[in-house]
Amino acid sequence: MKVLLVCGARPNFMKISPLIRAIDRHNFSGEKPLVERVLVHTGQHYDYQMSELFFQELELPRPDVHLGVGSGTHAEQTGKVMLELEKVLVELKPDMVIVVGDVNSTLAAALAAVKLHIKVAHVEAGLRSYDKSMPEEINRVLTDHISDYLFTPSRDADENLIKEGIPREKVFFVGDVMVDSLLYNRKKASQRRILDVFNLREGNYALLTLHRPSNVDDKENLSRLVEAIYEMGQQLPIIFLCHPRTRINIEKFGLISLFQMDKSAANSKGVLLTEPLGYLDCLRLMMDSAFVMTDSGGMQEETTVLNVPCLTLRDTTERPITITQGTNTLVGNDTRRMKEEANAILEGRGKKGIQLDFWDGKAAERIMDVLIR
Ligand code: UD1
Repeated sequence: MKVLLVCGARPNFMKISPLIRAIDRHNFSGEKPLVERVLVHTGQHYDYQMSELFFQELELPRPDVHLGVGSGTHAEQTGKVMLELEKVLVELKPDMVIVVGDVNSTLAAALAAVKLHIKVAHVEAGLRSYDKSMPEEINRVLTDHISDYLFTPSRDADENLIKEGIPREKVFFVGDVMVDSLLYNRKKASQRRILDVFNLREGNYALLTLHRPSNVDDKENLSRLVEAIYEMGQQLPIIFLCHPRTRINIEKFGLISLFQMDKSAANSKGVLLTEPLGYLDCLRLMMDSAFVMTDSGGMQEETTVLNVPCLTLRDTTERPITITQGTNTLVGNDTRRMKEEANAILEGRGKKGIQLDFWDGKAAERIMDVLIR
């Protein structure tokens, strides 16, 4: 069985890594059929901090194929991945293509494969924010509807798929591969010295990430958010791991003076703006933070597993289970709500999570079991 795994953007790498480990473990066990794996990197993310560093930390093998598509408009990026991947698929003739998550590379790869009548497996299927203004929502819906195997991280995702008319026999509730990565790397992350680099004390800072177009591309929105975060930073230090897209806009909109840049002074009040960190440092900072503010999808899950309160700066989430059962609270871009919820957390009234079904580090194993069967 020849399986081609596709990754392209930062949040893909921690989902692909447990799958590769599961394939290698299966092959090592000598059980039949052996699985030949081909790893393809589309090149959607290309900065060292957004890609290469994750390959090293997650012990990912060097990609067998690199498509090198880079940045561009949605159509350019999606189109380029399709054009380049199609050539690879025609040449290598895999039995199956595995795509993960909801980025442009995910949809592009699924489309290129299905048109060549190659089976597609979608890992992290069924998540819905029901907000079509998010490019990821379009990627999720379309990828799910052209996939043959839909591996879901939570039961609500199964229900979403069934409601949309996807046959039940294509849907497999396996748990969350992102959690596989987190649990596998938790100990290593806890040994990182990143708190010393920033001169921080455990529990005495908040962590911030922000990169959704709806939050960072519009001058007025971004300014309001940044000003509110600046005020919150007067109460406790905030470490802002700034995505390249956000950094460009902060400079363009003249907001850079609201941040401090001196890493060693991050323990004093204010908002420290720093480059995106690798997986392990980011995990360590998350673990020991008082709370996290983010518009990322993955961090909503990771904070739930780590039992750290999370304020999500979005109006909707495709991961409602992190709200109903986890530590997540949606605050949108309502800056008053952000401050109120942050105060509640600092006064000890933050949400506590519970262990979610199948978020146990074995999702990739379950996926392999299904594929082998
Ligand atoms: C993409 C995903 C998003 C995911 C995010 C994680 C889509 C539609 N969006 O958004 O779901 O949460 O990745 O980061 O697929 N850039 C760099 N270096 C890089 C990559 C990007 O400087 O290595 C800059 C470029 O200016 C680029 C911009 O960031 O144009 C946006 O990158 P892109 O991959 O289009 O989207 P993200 O915002 O990263």
